[in-house]
Amino acid sequence: MSVSVRFMPDDIIVEAKPGESLLLVARRAGITIPTGCLMGSCHACEVEIEGQGPVCSCLTSTPNRSITVQLYSDPTW
Ligand code: FES
Repeated sequence: MSVSVRFMPDDIIVEAKPGESLLLVARRAGITIPTGCLMGSCHACEVEIEGQGPVCSCLTSTPNRSITVQLYSDPTW
């Protein structure tokens, strides 16, 4: 089973397996999400899942439903 993950604002849609790291799904789609600690502390990798709110992509798994992910562009990272 796979689900669709849609990355905004570039509107890139990629298939992913539930449980797969959002950060890795983004990388597979050619999207670079800034990272730092990769442990959930620095929030450099923060993205927003529509209807759910902000999450750290390094720790967040793809849910078992299709989602839309809003990427932040923070010039400080
Ligand atoms: S890279 Fe630091 S919280 Fe994800």
